[in-house]
Amino acid sequence: MEMAIFLSALLLGIYSVVTSPTPLSPRQVVCVKRDACTCDMSDGSGRVSLHSLARPEEPYELDSNSFRFLYSPCTAMKNVKQECQEDTSVCLEGREEDFGYNFGRASDPEFITDKNGNVTVKYTSEVGNKTRTAKVQLVCDPSVTERPLVMFKGMTETAMNWTFTTVCACPGARNPRPIRCDVQCDSN
Ligand SMILES: *[C@@H]1O[C@H](CO)[C@@H](O)[C@H](O)[C@H]1NC(C)=O
Ligand SMILES: *[C@@H]1O[C@H](CO)[C@@H](O)[C@H](O)[C@H]1NC(C)=O
Ligand SMILES: *[C@@H]1O[C@H](CO)[C@@H](O)[C@H](O)[C@H]1NC(C)=O
Repeated sequence: MEMAIFLSALLLGIYSVVTSPTPLSPRQVVCVKRDACTCDMSDGSGRVSLHSLARPEEPYELDSNSFRFLYSPCTAMKNVKQECQEDTSVCLEGREEDFGYNFGRASDPEFITDKNGNVTVKYTSEVGNKTRTAKVQLVCDPSVTERPLVMFKGMTETAMNWTFTTVCACPGARNPRPIRCDVQCDSN
């Protein structure tokens, strides 16, 4: 009898060890998506929200000679060409020429947190039979309280990487002073 209880306790123990999910490392923090440009850090350190930086009428822009790389966090960009007219957060369009490639839908990005707690917003689009992705790494810099710094980190035919540096990428409560993310981005 005692043996039976012991065995079943043992089996129950093994069972629960086998079925418990792979434990996350205690320090692994993720930013849990709330909406297309907001997530909450799982360690309670605060919210990352780009809402005050949304400017769909005038997306953040990087120029090259004949292209414009455009980024519109939160909502789809406006006043753009071709594919980018539809639900687009990341676009490559011609400066003079009439082309626009949608590199990421605005409506359903994913939030990816690396082991250092750095958050990347990953946008995806499917146009025809092509899937394209754009990854925008959010870089917290409490000193960037005005226009965010946008940097291009490379591309292939179907993928693009950017960084977006702003105080609004800083989870609020982690900082000694509360972060105010109410940036006013003037035109130009
Ligand atoms: C994708 O579509 C293009 C034309 O629209 C076609 O030439 C190509 O073969 C297609 N690729 C695949 C993998 O289906
Ligand atoms: C994480 O972001 C910080 C800036 O917020 C940067 O200094 C650091 O290099 C990043 N780490 C990685 C692995 O990208
Ligand atoms: C984008 O960055 C990832 C690392 O996050 C890297 O593996 C990939 O090769 C980069 N792609 C491009 C097109 O630069």
